[in-house]
Amino acid sequence: MAKSDGFCNRAEAYEAHDDRPLSPEGGETIGDVIVRRYSRRDMMRGTLGVAAATVLFGPSALAAREASATGIEKDRFDFEEVAAGVDGTHHVAPGYRAQILLRWGDPLFPDSPAFDPLRQSAAAQLKQFGYNNDYIAFFPLGTDGGCALLCINHEYTNEEVMFPGLIRQDLVCFPDMTAELVEIEMAAHGVSIVEIAQEGDNWRPMLDSKYNRRISPLTTTMTADGPAAGHDRLKTSVDLSGKSILGTLNNCAGGQTTWGTYLTAEENFHGYFWSDACGEGRKAPEGLGGTQAKSYARYGVPGLWQAWGKFVDRFNVDKEANEPNRFGWIVEIDPFDPASVPVKHTALGRFRHEGAECIVNKDGRVVIYSGDDGRFEYVYRFVTDGRYDPDDRAANRRLLSSGTLSVARFRDDGQVEWLPLLFGQGPLTEANGFSSQADVVIDARLAADVLGATRMDRPEDVQPNPANGRVYVMLTNNKERPAGEEDTANPRPDNLFGHIIEMAPPDGDHAGDTFSWEVLVRCGDPAVAAVGALWNPATSDNGWFACPDNAAVDAEGRLWISTDQGDPWPTGRADGLYALETEGGRRRTSKLFFRCPVGGEMCGPCFTPDGETLFVAVQHPGTDGTDKYKGFERASTFADPATRWPDFDPHTPPRPSVLVITTMGGGKIA
Ligand code: FEO
Ligand code: CA
Ligand code: CA
Repeated sequence: MAKSDGFCNRAEAYEAHDDRPLSPEGGETIGDVIVRRYSRRDMMRGTLGVAAATVLFGPSALAAREASATGIEKDRFDFEEVAAGVDGTHHVAPGYRAQILLRWGDPLFPDSPAFDPLRQSAAAQLKQFGYNNDYIAFFPLGTDGGCALLCINHEYTNEEVMFPGLIRQDLVCFPDMTAELVEIEMAAHGVSIVEIAQEGDNWRPMLDSKYNRRISPLTTTMTADGPAAGHDRLKTSVDLSGKSILGTLNNCAGGQTTWGTYLTAEENFHGYFWSDACGEGRKAPEGLGGTQAKSYARYGVPGLWQAWGKFVDRFNVDKEANEPNRFGWIVEIDPFDPASVPVKHTALGRFRHEGAECIVNKDGRVVIYSGDDGRFEYVYRFVTDGRYDPDDRAANRRLLSSGTLSVARFRDDGQVEWLPLLFGQGPLTEANGFSSQADVVIDARLAADVLGATRMDRPEDVQPNPANGRVYVMLTNNKERPAGEEDTANPRPDNLFGHIIEMAPPDGDHAGDTFSWEVLVRCGDPAVAAVGALWNPATSDNGWFACPDNAAVDAEGRLWISTDQGDPWPTGRADGLYALETEGGRRRTSKLFFRCPVGGEMCGPCFTPDGETLFVAVQHPGTDGTDKYKGFERASTFADPATRWPDFDPHTPPRPSVLVITTMGGGKIA
């Protein structure tokens, strides 16, 4: 039972969630510098002068502020901004309607039990919409545009606002977790596929659709293909084939292929693994030795974010040492075939995949970009060997089985090189611990280390824009980058606010060896000079943001950014969805379109091809930052009335939700 007693402690657990850097290290942080030189009050008042900002960041720090307002073209985003701030509900720009489409616990099938948070069960959850909705993909059904399939990731669970009577468990060694609760958590993870139909200005789920499906780590058997499929390092006591894997987990963002399949990215898989032998530190268990121990350490396995391994043997690395190697992949799902077996494509590498955004290159090969969401981790690209054939869906379904995985090295001269992760090439040899391409993809992080990839400030979504041929890299933040370890691609130490890099492939060739790049925006408040933000001066005080996470391109080819500041919020404002201009004189101008309720992270966003509907996902409302929210000022739980989220019924915890946004009176999202 409670074998964790004695080895967890609050600091360890907090660190686990705080995502410690694990790539090889290269002081003092910018936060230290600012605090030493300037008072916090000065910072908050925005009274640091030009001289101070120039000392800290150089003349370019003020470029946006100094830029003339001349040359700004017409605003391509014709909406009135939402006011930045924080409160207990969501806000959308005037003239738009935001309606809840699906919430945690909503029925997905005709026989789904009614949501009852006081009497949850895994069986009920498997027939209901899952928890913490992240990525959303929209697949039209038929040609009239009124029906579609939505695929939605359910990334993780927050036990303190999910289960009555519990406080956050990873901070206190999981004393209250039981086998039953773990099973419910497992059922709440994974993916929901649901048919929706448009009715006037609204959409609704169609519970009797033959397409509706819940995919979970509890029930859905998957297969693997590519270099690591069937390798000894993927074999377990219950799967001697090394290619039959139960489930997917921590599905964060994803992608949508041109041939109509869904890609879901397994992100923080390490957090689901447990060891009875961890001791005070989260060290790799004794006895595994060699490559496996090195691999565990590099990936942070076992992470002890969840208690699954206390009750389910395969999540305990002492009992099933290879199970972690079966997660951390990109999974392809055919939403149009509810009996289809999802495929883990090992050719795309194993790391904490944030997403998997695709584009068909001009030569027909398919290119997928993916960030590894960890401090000092890398940006990757996969180029298929085969070419997309619009007339052969079955052949397209094999495209992600073979190709070249590369990792980015950002050079100071404004070029980014793609370094291929190919066994036998360069340092990827036996001498460095790689015996095959299977080792290279299973230990993609270790391979990228020896290739000399650029250690980035937490790469999240990497979004190609087919309209302008460029690619946008969300770098959400990295408070652990010390002063002296900045580089041109990660220019701020103690990077609390994140930045976005724009990459330009040569002649639009996404398979090219070298792209050009530049920083598009440095996030944070432009009124606080010490922050060193970079925005177009046309950006209003409502429009700037921090911690870019997901990105989407709409039907007009415009870029939209959603944010996730986590806890603590560096801005004191709620997360939201921002329209970010990338072209012309308004380049680098951002506007706030939608604001989350307190504690929620903004995910999605997903536009319909006609540009008239936008789906967004609000993850974990009522969690991050509620202790700093004026009038509440404490952590939210589902435990007792004193700490329960105030706007909710005593029997109803805050519910992660997917919302549908339309223009009042119809028409495109402008
Ligand atoms: Fe699940 Fe990187 O956010
Ligand atoms: Ca994310
Ligand atoms: Ca995206």
